[in-house]
Formats: sequence, structure tokens, C-alpha cells
Amino acid sequence: MSRYHETYANWQKNPDKFWEDAAQAIDWIKPWNKLFDPDAGVYGSWFVGAECNTCYNALDRHIAAGRGDQIALIHDSPITGALRKYTFNEVYEEVAALATVLTDRGVRKGDPVVIYMPMVAEAAFAMLACARIGAPHSVVFGGFASKELATRVEDVKAAAIISASCGIEPGRTIAYKPLLDGAIDLCTHEPDCCIILQRPQLECDLVEGRDIDYREAVDAAKAEKRFTDCVAVQATDPLYILYTSGTTGQPKGVVRDNGGHMVALAWSMGNEFGIEPGETFWAASDVGWVVGHSYIVYGPLLIGATTILFEGKPVGTPDAGTFWRIISEHKVRSFFTAPTAFRAIKKEDPDGEFIRKYDLSAFRCLFLAGERADPETVKWAEDKLRKPVVDHWWQTEIGYPVSQNPYGLGLLPQRYGSPGVIMPGFEVHILDDEGRRVEKPGTLGNVVIKLPLPPGCLPTLWNADARFFEAYLSEFPGYYKTADAGFIDKDGYLFIMSRTDDIINVAGHRLSTGAMEEVVAEHPAVAECAVIGISDPLKGQVPCGFIVLNRGARQTEEEIEKEIIASIREKIGAVAALKKVVVVLRLPKTRSGKILRATMQKIANNGEWVVPPTIDDPDVLDEIGRALDERNRRAVSA
Ligand code: COA
Ligand code: AMP
Repeated sequence: MSRYHETYANWQKNPDKFWEDAAQAIDWIKPWNKLFDPDAGVYGSWFVGAECNTCYNALDRHIAAGRGDQIALIHDSPITGALRKYTFNEVYEEVAALATVLTDRGVRKGDPVVIYMPMVAEAAFAMLACARIGAPHSVVFGGFASKELATRVEDVKAAAIISASCGIEPGRTIAYKPLLDGAIDLCTHEPDCCIILQRPQLECDLVEGRDIDYREAVDAAKAEKRFTDCVAVQATDPLYILYTSGTTGQPKGVVRDNGGHMVALAWSMGNEFGIEPGETFWAASDVGWVVGHSYIVYGPLLIGATTILFEGKPVGTPDAGTFWRIISEHKVRSFFTAPTAFRAIKKEDPDGEFIRKYDLSAFRCLFLAGERADPETVKWAEDKLRKPVVDHWWQTEIGYPVSQNPYGLGLLPQRYGSPGVIMPGFEVHILDDEGRRVEKPGTLGNVVIKLPLPPGCLPTLWNADARFFEAYLSEFPGYYKTADAGFIDKDGYLFIMSRTDDIINVAGHRLSTGAMEEVVAEHPAVAECAVIGISDPLKGQVPCGFIVLNRGARQTEEEIEKEIIASIREKIGAVAALKKVVVVLRLPKTRSGKILRATMQKIANNGEWVVPPTIDDPDVLDEIGRALDERNRRAVSA
């Protein structure tokens, strides 16, 4: 019997008691004066007046409780062949020594630190070292190139940057240092120092006076036993800032506080993911995404579980059996990845032959998130793994599952296409475009969460309270707008169908078409452009650019396309996966000049579309269809 309904009802009846009980899982330096203060912050603040330290809760207290020799973190890197296990004691020494290096360079409580790292253990150590000294970290995904990195360094006003000499992707080594130096050149704000981890695959030159060698500095601090203690921070102080795509090229700095975040994550580890202290949990994501923050680093360590940092791909490193090898070798209890990874595995190993080669007896449950889990992939995984498969829905802003089949509380019947029921702490509604509650189950509308958001969700955007209010709270007063469209069925299962803004989801990566449009528009041959997401069987969605050429543009369409693709890779990163640019005579617009991206998307996806009544000239839509067909024919004949 699932405890879900009873637990949700308990939260509804007495939310204060629910969160007070959950907060017992955390060690506080000073208790809170007010559990929730509706007058603090933009919509209220949790655990006001409390003092705590997230790094202390993730490391020191487990050591004090006798877990020092337990493995805390495993770095498994099939792409380099490296495997290294760190006990809680060892992680503590790495982190407390790096905290010393940071403070030696003048980084203090409240100073933001950008972390631009590949999937190495030092990325997690860097996050924890920042948490230790109360310096909010801002991790930038290693797949982003200079421009995206620069935007973040500039917006956050980084006091220091922690980075590495290179990242490694299948078949190529990516030199990070030129990207980092290029980004710093683009900024008006310059960080005081860069701490660079030299990787043996490709070392880099250090800038004298600014750069320091990560390993040398940390080892020196360790040798001298100069370990920095945790500082007390307010529960409401920022632990981190994580930039996420907005509708424009200016990403949004999602702020996460210390206290509420710890309480929410610790609660989710047991009740949602079913993980106990001492067990191994693995999220095969990247520290550059929210999944990496919540479920590679903080969630598992906060409860004294073992976590895995995986540097590799679901296929090709070396084969479609990598996931099963790791699950079997490290006795992973619960595993979390994106549906796209499963689609990649299914393509390579449709009969699941690799799965049968490994002993998965310790493995209990597969968790999927980051994009819609298509029923076919879920069923394939259930069939081949013979384990429960749990889809769950949340976002960078929220930090942990809003909707799930709560494995830890006891599974409810599976409903394909739905991430599940609503988790305690959240009251989710569907509103129509006028902001009215949709009463009839199954009616599609805007998915919103009733305020206040529970502990652990974003209190605001970095240095941008007004933008936070405008982007999330203003359209539907009293609610947080998720910018997802969906419905709730008669049994309370939520279905997420699409975004209501210009964000697309490419292989589980959240990307802004607005940011891509800004880069496409910089091409000298382009008069105007639109980037939309089109369906892709592997990645869910991929971007497709539509451009109108300047009169007199001399290059061929192929040449222009190639240059635009290269420019997106250089400025945003290869991860944007823009592979197609279509030349059109005109873009479809409303009479007020707004580009009709949603209609273009339907045409490109061969879906049903109707001519919008506001369109200026309906003939443009046929032109779009024809240009796309022509571009697709060109790809086939090539
Ligand atoms: N650093 C530098 N480049 C990176 C990168 C990183 N951290 N991550 C991806 N890239 C590059 C890739 O090398 C690739 O470059 P290419 O166009 O030159 O080949 C490009 O960005 C696209 O990468 P990716 O999205 O990984 O696509 P892929 O075709 O290489 O692999 C999958 C497809 C499905 C295997 C892969 O997307 C995947 O594992 N997805 C899971 C994503 C995930 O876990 N998301 C987190 C949400 S929970
Ligand atoms: P991110 O902030 O990168 O985690 O992306 C969040 C967005 O990804 C959500 O707003 C959804 O659009 C989408 N998403 C994430 N998980 C799911 C899921 N389980 N089902 C459907 N969409 C999802």
C-alpha cells in the first residue's frame, strides 16, 4: 500500500508541521525564528533566521557520525578509462583544502564563483568548497562555449572561476582554456583568479598572476593541513545560482537558498527516490544542469548516500552496456537519466542483450526526467529491465520533483504518458489563458503552482527580483507559472504536453531558441530569422533555423547554412545541435508583426495546422512548407 495519499493529505492539513518534521533531517547551527515568513522576499521565505551550512550537512556530520570511511563519491569515466572512489574523509580533505585555496585568494562569504568543469570529481569538490565558505557557486555546463559562459560570468560578477584544461567528448578533446580566456575577454567584469585543473589529456598554459594550478594549490594546503572550517550562513542565503534558458539570449540566474534546499532534497531522497543512507544513487546527468546539482551532488551526500559522477555517454563509451556495467559494479540502487539516453540505447541494443550480461539484482528502480518520457521508451525499459520505471517532472527553478510516482512512499499504478501524481508541498492547477481554473479533468491548459512555493524552490532570480516577478508570478496572480502546458486527469495524474514559451528541449537539454536567433541574426546575409524546435526520434526536439536573406547576399544557401551552424557551435556550443537552416522568402507574421513560430512548428512537424486569424498573409505558410521540403530533399540527395 502506498503512503502517498496519506502523506499528501498530512501536508495539506498542516504544511508547517510537515516541513518542521522534514527539517529534523538537517543539522542547524541556529534554529529558525519563522518557518515561513510571507513578508520576506518576493513571495515569502523559508526557515527565516536559521543558520546552517550545506557542506557541513553533506560531509562533516556524516564523518562525525562514523561514515568517514564510507565511499561518498565514485568518479567513473569510461571515456578516459579512469575510476576513482573517494570516502567521505577524502572528499572532506579535498573540499576543505580547496576552500582554503579560495579564501587565500580573497573569496569570501557572498562572493559568487563560476565553475566551468567537465565531469570530474573536482567539479563536485568545487561546488562543496564554495558551499563551505558561503560563496554561491554558479556552474556553467561544459558544453557551452565562450559567449554563453561570458554572459554568465558577467551577470553573476564572478569573484573567481574554477575550471579545467579540457573536456573529453567521444573522438575529440575540447580545450577549455581558450573558451575560458575568450569568455573573460568578452566580459567587462574580470574575476580576480582562475583555479585551473590540469588534465593529462590536454594541459594548458596558465596566465601569470591570475591563474593557479588547482592540484598544486590543493595538495599544498592538504600537506600543511590547512583545512578551512564551514562558515555559518543564513538559511535564506544563496547556495548557488544556476543559469537557465529564458526566452531571450539573457539567461535567468535561478537562485537556490541553503536551508529550504537541504530540507527538500533530504526529504525527496527517501520518500521519492527510496534511497537510504549508505546506499548508492546514480544520476547520469551533468553537474552543469539542475539534475547534477540536486541528484549528483547535494541530494545523495546530504543523506549520507554514495553518489556517482559519470563521464561518458549512454552509447559508444564503449557500448550500449555502460549503464548496466556501472549499475552492477557499484551496486546502484536507483538510477536517474533522461529518456533520450534510453532511446539511444534502444536504438543500439533493441533486444536489451547488454542488459542480460550484467547482474542487476541490487538495482531497484529507474527514474526518468528532463523531457517527456514517451510511453514506448518507458515500456521498453520496463520490459527489458524488469524493474519499475518512474517518470517525474520538475524544472531548474523548482529543484526537485513536483510530479512523480513516489517510489519511496510506495508506487501507485503506472499511467503511461504521465509523470505521476502531485508531490506533497505542491498544489498544481491548470488555468486557461484568462487565468481561470479549469475544472473539467483532462482539459489542456497552463500548468501553475499555487504560491507559496515550498522550501527548495527558487526564491528569486539573481539580482533580478522584478524580472523574477514578471517572468513567473505576474501572469497568473497567486500562482507560479511553469511555462508548461498540460492537464490533470480524474485521478490526479498530471500530463505535461509542451512548453508555452520559446524554449526547446534537445536531448534533455533546455535551450532557448531566442538565444540561437540572436546568433543567427548576426550573420551578414541574414535579414531576419526564426528558430523553432522540430521533433526528432532520438533527441525529442532539435532546432531548425528559418532565414530571410538580405537583398544582394552573394553566397549560396549551403555556404550560409554552414557558416550559421559553425557560428552557433562556436558561440553557444555544439550541444545546441543546430543542423538545419532553411532559406525562405518571408516569415509568417501577425498583422502586428509577431512571428508565428507555433504555426511554423506545426508545419515543420507535419502536424495539423490552421491559418491563424491574425496572420498578415496566409500564403507565407505554404512558402514555408515548400522551402522546408526543398531543404529536406537537398539533405536526402546529399
Ligand atoms: N562538453 C562539450 N561538448 C559537449 C558536451 C560537453 N559537456 N556535451 C555534449 N557536447 C557536444 C557533443 O560532443 C555533440 O557534439 P557533435 O555535434 O560535434 O557531435 C553535441 O554537443 C551534441 O551532444 P549530445 O546532446 O550529447 O548529443 P549526441 O548526439 O552526442 O548524443 C545522446 C546523444 C542521446 C546519447 C546524448 O544526448 C545523451 O546522453 N543525452 C542525455 C542527456 C542528459 O542526461 N541530460 C540531462 C537531463 S537529466
Ligand atoms: P530543466 O529546467 O532543464 O529541468 O527543464 C525543465 C523543462 O523540461 C520542463 O519545464 C518541461 O518542459 C521539461 N520536462 C522536464 N521533465 C519532464 C517530464 N518528466 N515530462 C515532461 N516534460 C519534462
